[in-house]
Amino acid sequence: MDITVRSGDALSTSSALAVLVTFEGASVPAAVANSFETSDFSGAANQSLMVYPKGRGGPKRVLLVGLGARKGVTAESVRQAAATAIKQARSAQAADITLGLPADMPLGGDEVGQALAEGLELGNYRYLQHQTGRSAADLHEIASVTVFAPKHTKSVAQGVATGSAIARGTNFARDLVNTPGGMKTPPQLAQRAIELGERHPAINVTVYDEVRLEKEGFGGILAVGKGSDSPPRFIIMEYGKQFKGSTVCLVGKGLTFDSGGLNIKPAEGMETMKNDMGGSAAVFGVMQTVAELGLPLHVVGLVPSAENMPSGRSYRPGDIVTTLSGKTIEILNTDAEGRVILSDGLHFAQRYKPAAIVELSTLTGAVIIALGNHATAVMATDQSLADQLVAAGAASGDKAWQLPLWDEYHQMVKSDIADLKNLAGRGAGSITAGAFLSAFAGKYPFAHLDIAGTAWLDAPTKPYLSKGGTGAGVRLVTEFLRTFN
Ligand code: BES
Ligand code: MN
Ligand code: ZN
Repeated sequence: MDITVRSGDALSTSSALAVLVTFEGASVPAAVANSFETSDFSGAANQSLMVYPKGRGGPKRVLLVGLGARKGVTAESVRQAAATAIKQARSAQAADITLGLPADMPLGGDEVGQALAEGLELGNYRYLQHQTGRSAADLHEIASVTVFAPKHTKSVAQGVATGSAIARGTNFARDLVNTPGGMKTPPQLAQRAIELGERHPAINVTVYDEVRLEKEGFGGILAVGKGSDSPPRFIIMEYGKQFKGSTVCLVGKGLTFDSGGLNIKPAEGMETMKNDMGGSAAVFGVMQTVAELGLPLHVVGLVPSAENMPSGRSYRPGDIVTTLSGKTIEILNTDAEGRVILSDGLHFAQRYKPAAIVELSTLTGAVIIALGNHATAVMATDQSLADQLVAAGAASGDKAWQLPLWDEYHQMVKSDIADLKNLAGRGAGSITAGAFLSAFAGKYPFAHLDIAGTAWLDAPTKPYLSKGGTGAGVRLVTEFLRTFN
């Protein structure tokens, strides 16, 4: 979708459909106000009404969309209103639309533009690749949106460019998560990284195959991958090596399908376990976004990727695995596999001497009990890193909330016969997983983001989210990197 920004009035052109975004209780231009019953539209958040102004040269259809009361308006209100608008405009079969904003927005131009573009692009997202019977009307897409910003046109345009890049990165992650497990096996996921590197020459991509993994001693990834007919991979995506400032390593769980392995999961809901590479999808999405924005930062994306399957070759409960770090893990449950593959990815990250390691994974069902689908859990060995991530969550609307990593939790993952065990009793399941991971990050500031609740939705919770993959973590981590110090 092409989004351009102009100064002036959205009703002054004769587009087939104009969207008017308004505050609750604000007056609308007379020609529009006469074309509907005032009680039908108050301007409440995400309320919308199509009206048909008569007897003038402007747009034939005007879609009113509410932002809620002006004093409560945030970037999130704009993001949601824009998503509501684009969905309605698309079902009205409009090809090119204009969109008008109130002159007295209580936000900066760049903030408005970014939230607007995010709402438009995210709200417009659909995953249609495997449907053959849809009508042309159903497949209709909006080609262009012309945004009329009465003020701060230039900063709104800059914000639109930023927001579009972030939303494209998020939608890329959604596509990867929505792809069936059988079409994104570890070698196929690695191929998507290679293609990303071809699209963006600023990203250097290296893939380790199973032979290389064996040679270098990636014991965690190899153990989890053993039960699958698709061999595991380790994916390295490097951007911005030339920048002299800090290095940030992003590590994403790339478990392309999690059956549980020999500790097999129940049948109900197993199909959603194609989302177990949501962490890696977020890393892919952030790498693309960072390259598109040209951020002046050295960012290394690392993805351990395997498929967790039951077979005669599977790793077993009771096995002891020697990881890349040399540390050993007692396997008590083959379904706690994420932390086993991530141990190698985190240890590998240390070779970049990073200023921060930020790891994302759909790691525990327990985090859904703690925070539901509305926030990602942050656990960190460095409080300033945790604070920056929570702040980036608030600023981006891709929310994050901290859980503690106290010494008591580190004690809980110690094994009697190996260095660590991959299961630690029922309590604090998300935190003990985080404590386990921190053992592999060495002395480097480390944050773990558990996105098991946020990477996937069974039903949308906001106008710009949809059933399936959400791209959780892309907006959060991009905002973190844009403000990293
Ligand atoms: N991939 C799952 C976690 C998960 C659950 C992701 C729900 C998305 C939605 C992970 O590998 C897993 O199976 N975790 C177990 C850990 C347990 C065996 C210690 C869990 O949470 O039940
Ligand atoms: Mn599992
Ligand atoms: Zn898993």
